Amino acid sequence: MSDDVTMDQIVSLSRRRGFVFPSSEIYGGMGSTFDYGHYGVLMKNNIRELWFEAMVRNRDDIVAIDSAVILHPKVWEASGHVAGFTDPLIDCRTCKLRFRADKLEDSSCGLRPSKHPGETPECDLTEPRRFNLMFETTVGALQEEGSRAFLRPETAQGIFINFKNVLQIARRKPPFGIAQVGKSFRNEITPGNFLFRVREFEQMEMEFFVPPDEAEKWYRYWIDERLNWYRHYGLRDSKLRVREHGPEERSHYSRGTSDIEYDYPIGWSELEGIANRGDFDLTQHAEHSTTKLEYVGQDGERYVPYVIEPAVSIERIMVAMLVDAYDEEVVGERERTVLRLHPKIAPVTAAILPLIGKSDEMVAKARSLYEDLRRRHSVEYDDNGAIGRRYRRQDEIGTPWAFTVDEQTLEDDTVTVRDRDSLAQERIPIAGARDWLEDALERDWKSPRGN
Ligand code: GAP
Repeated sequence: MSDDVTMDQIVSLSRRRGFVFPSSEIYGGMGSTFDYGHYGVLMKNNIRELWFEAMVRNRDDIVAIDSAVILHPKVWEASGHVAGFTDPLIDCRTCKLRFRADKLEDSSCGLRPSKHPGETPECDLTEPRRFNLMFETTVGALQEEGSRAFLRPETAQGIFINFKNVLQIARRKPPFGIAQVGKSFRNEITPGNFLFRVREFEQMEMEFFVPPDEAEKWYRYWIDERLNWYRHYGLRDSKLRVREHGPEERSHYSRGTSDIEYDYPIGWSELEGIANRGDFDLTQHAEHSTTKLEYVGQDGERYVPYVIEPAVSIERIMVAMLVDAYDEEVVGERERTVLRLHPKIAPVTAAILPLIGKSDEMVAKARSLYEDLRRRHSVEYDDNGAIGRRYRRQDEIGTPWAFTVDEQTLEDDTVTVRDRDSLAQERIPIAGARDWLEDALERDWKSPRGN
């Protein structure tokens, strides 16, 4: 098993097997923008669903919300995004490329890619200037004063402006949380590394409102919870770490931030951020909207809650999980590429394969099993080509189990179950296949690639 996975291998597999395509390809492509194919959609759905299960469905103290993408422009003034959501930008007058001033070390010169911008005599760099990352749009038919709006750069603000609604209607009392999943948009100067930094991504954020004197406790609690979620869904311990920001690195709203980092092929980088946002957001929105945003207890106790925020994008999780799962090995003198994904993350849970695709009896049995399993699970039927090739196709998309209907099935109504990771095969009654699958999905799973 190899551990040196490159981003190119992940991009190539994702494209070859229809997880992710470069967007607008027939028009020449649009840099760093991607479309998701069938397996990509299934995998994203699983990640979103498992996040929602952990953050909302399995808890009594968190509710969901789905706010608009285009909010009142004053939201972004209050939040500090209009004034401060900027990156320092530098242009090169020679190669016409644009760079982040704080990331020159990670960028390549447009004329000589082996050099960094500014390192060759031909480089002619401008002074850094602030560039706001929010996408602007106009609301309504006229481009007039007052019609300027923004696509949200984070889902969090849609939660803060609904704090009062949730407090009153869902009758909540701190500590409680509001969770949201949805697209966010950032006009990144240097997007790249596949899905790692894109301009349009699906964020999953949860704002946990707590009494101020409990903020530190909940901040630590959420770091642990989120780290354990990644471990549970198979990311290896050796590839995960928590890095606490120093005061100079923190965002304007933060009283403490820790990144859960993953050891991506580009090096240790932020997978998810957990921040103690203090009372910054509620105080700002209260001031700008002149609406009181505070908790008032039955005994008259009154305070502005502090907020602990775990925030991540499905894209960063997807890259981490694909990288962690990607493996190549030689089995019986043949190479196979296998995605060792957690069974609940894998786009297809089981394949149903008649050993001989031309056998009407095997096809009938296999199709009947497929019809039964598809009602509850993401399963795939395949009778096309040699059985070895069909197994390899499933290995490449990470399908953990394959049920094969063979000669013996016709005699005693049993099927074999092949395990993607161990390649072990066991024989079970076809009538028990659904229960077998449901039990297998609930078993603890650890990456066979180690810790
Ligand atoms: N509400 C806080 C917030 O948005 P952030 O650190 O800017 O904080 C949170 O973003 C998470 O969103 C990051 O940890 C990352 O998982 C994801 N994210 C941010 N920018 C992204 C981008 N351009 N492409 C993909 N994911 C991104």
